[in-house]
Amino acid sequence: MKIGIIGSGHIGGTLTRRLTALGHDVSVANSRGPESLTDLARETGATAATAEDAVRDADLVAIAIPVKAVPDLPDLSSKVVIDANNYYPSRDGRIEAIENGATSARWTADQTGAVVVKAFNTIESGHLLALGRPAGDPARIAVPVAADDAQAKQIVMRLVEQLGFDAVDAGGLDESWRQQPGTPVYGTDLDAARARAGLAAA
Ligand SMILES: NC(=O)c1ccc[n+]([C@@H]2O[C@H](COP(=O)([O-])OP(=O)(O)OC[C@H]3O[C@@H](n4cnc5c(N)ncnc54)[C@H](OP(=O)(O)O)[C@@H]3O)[C@@H](O)[C@H]2O)c1
Repeated sequence: MKIGIIGSGHIGGTLTRRLTALGHDVSVANSRGPESLTDLARETGATAATAEDAVRDADLVAIAIPVKAVPDLPDLSSKVVIDANNYYPSRDGRIEAIENGATSARWTADQTGAVVVKAFNTIESGHLLALGRPAGDPARIAVPVAADDAQAKQIVMRLVEQLGFDAVDAGGLDESWRQQPGTPVYGTDLDAARARAGLAAA
């Protein structure tokens, strides 16, 4: 797939490394511009891009940035966008809609007009890099995936599985508070059965 990744830090850099290794055609962008991404591009074979160029022809976009930077993103309307972000008011400032009960994924969908799929926000970047396992391995970690669009959710669930994690259907965007910071599935590396139970118990 042609994948545009915005954010080249812990999560964006890790997705760049893992997805290029799987053979995907990745363009990666950050806030400082493509010239700051030459080492990552050389290491992975990804294309260092501006955010606009990274998303232009992408089949799929992933965003791994501070939530407060979402309004600065290029036009994502109608794009399928993986939202790996977490809202931390200490970092992002107060965002009233989220404080008033919107999930950060819903807010991101409203801000961007994208077809948002919430995924990879629960897993620590080092584990995303190194702890993928073949299907059926008892140590396989679950990654909850929430989206309103069934087709987009399936695309991302397949990608999660390709990366070596069990994709767990976590419902729609308004349910994705069940995988936000502080919930049982957040940062806890649960297997699929425990992740389903954790989502239900949140
Ligand atoms: N760290 C984790 O293990 C982890 C796990 C799950 C989810 N998350 C969430 O994923 C998101 C990213 O976390 P991270 O740890 O990867 O952060 P990070 O290492 O600080 O990287 C953030 C990236 O966002 C880029 N960025 C910031 N503003 C931007 C803008 N306006 N346009 C384009 N790019 C912009 C930064 O660009 P520059 O490089 O140019 O500064 C940087 O590449 C956060 O919402 C975080 O809560 C993190």
